[in-house]
Amino acid sequence: MTERVFNFSAGPAAFPEKVLLQARDEMMSLPGLGMSVMEISHRSDEFKAIHAEAQSNVRTLLSVPDDYEVLFLQGGSRLQFSMIPMNLASPGQTADYFVTGTWSKKSVDECAKVGVLPNVVCDFSESGYDRIPAPGDVTVNPDSAFAYYCSNETVQGVQFPSEPDVGGVPLICDSSSDIFCRPLPVEKYGMIYACAQKNAGPAGVTIVIMKKDLLERSSDDLPGYLNYKLHAEADSMFNTPPTFAIYMVNLIAKWLLNDVGGLDKMFARNQEKASMLYEAIDSSDGFYVPHAQPESRSIMNVTFKLAKEDLLARFVEEAAKRRLCNLKGHRSVGGIRASIYNAVPTEGVVELRDFMAEFRASH
Ligand SMILES: Cc1ncc(COP(=O)(O)O)c(C=O)c1O
Repeated sequence: MTERVFNFSAGPAAFPEKVLLQARDEMMSLPGLGMSVMEISHRSDEFKAIHAEAQSNVRTLLSVPDDYEVLFLQGGSRLQFSMIPMNLASPGQTADYFVTGTWSKKSVDECAKVGVLPNVVCDFSESGYDRIPAPGDVTVNPDSAFAYYCSNETVQGVQFPSEPDVGGVPLICDSSSDIFCRPLPVEKYGMIYACAQKNAGPAGVTIVIMKKDLLERSSDDLPGYLNYKLHAEADSMFNTPPTFAIYMVNLIAKWLLNDVGGLDKMFARNQEKASMLYEAIDSSDGFYVPHAQPESRSIMNVTFKLAKEDLLARFVEEAAKRRLCNLKGHRSVGGIRASIYNAVPTEGVVELRDFMAEFRASH
C-alpha cells in the first residue's frame, strides 16, 4: 500500500505530510552536508543549530518566558513520573495529585515508589474516569511540594479546558497528548512535559519546560541522568540526545508556526474537528454513547461506545475499508477512540463523521 490513510492512532500518531516529505527529502543529505541528521555528531555545529532552533521554536509557539528551561530528554513520559517526585520533593514530603484517568493514576503509583507521599486530591475511578473536577471543587494542600495533573487523559478522552487553580504550589502538568493543541499560559506552571509521539514528533524525545528556580530542588545525590539540573546545565546534552527526534520536533514546530499560523489557529481547527465528532455522537439518538461528560470532553481523543456492542468489530472493519484507521478504543475502556491530534486533517474527520452517520443508518 502506498496511498496514505487517515490515521486516528493514539500514539505514535499521525504526522503532517509536509513534515514527512521534508524529512524524506533531507534523509540522504541535510542541505549542503551530504549526510543525514542521524549521521552527524550531536556536538557538531550543524546539530547544535538544529537543537537551538527546536528550542527556540518551542519557545515561540508556547510563548515560554525566559525564566523557564526547554529540555529534550529521553525515557518517555513514564520516566517523568519518577523524575518529578525524585527532583521536586524530598523523601517523606507530600505531593498532591489529581487522578483523572489511566496516566495520572500511573504517576501516583510511581511517586509512592520513590518515597514521596502522594496525596490524591480527586479520583474519578468509580465513574470510569469520565470527568475532570469542576473549578473550585478541589483544594490543594499549600504545603505540598507540587500539585500534579494530566491535562489530557489519552485513554479516557477527558481534558482540562484550562489549568486547575492550585494557589502558590508549583503546578506540574503531563501534557503528553495535548501539547501544542492550544496556547498555554506557561507562566502559571512550574513544569509542563510531554513525550513527543502524539502531537509533537516521533517517539524518543520528551519535551520538558521547567521554571528555572525549581532546578534548585534537584539533589546532587540523584543519579546523573535523573537530575534535571544536570540536563539544564548541559543544555540537554548531558548524554547523546535523541538527535533525529529533536530534528523532527523542530519540523513540527516550524509547520505549526509557518503553515498553520500558530497555536490560536491550531486550537480553532482542533475545536472544529472535535465538535464535528461530538455532534455526530450527540445527534445519534443513543446509537453512539460518549464516554466523557460533556464539560470534560477532550478535543484530542474522542471516546465513545456503540450501544449495540456487537457492532464494534464491524465499525472498525468498515471504517478501515474507507481508509479510516486505528479507531479501536484502548482495551481498558473499549469502544472507539478517534485520536484527532494536530496532524489529523479536517478532511479525515469529515470522512469519519460521514462514515458514522452512514454506519448508523445502515445498522
Ligand atoms: C498522557 C500520557 N502520559 C504518559 C504517557 C506515557 O508515555 P511514554 O510511553 O512516552 O512513557 C502517555 C502515553 O501514551 C500518555 O498518553
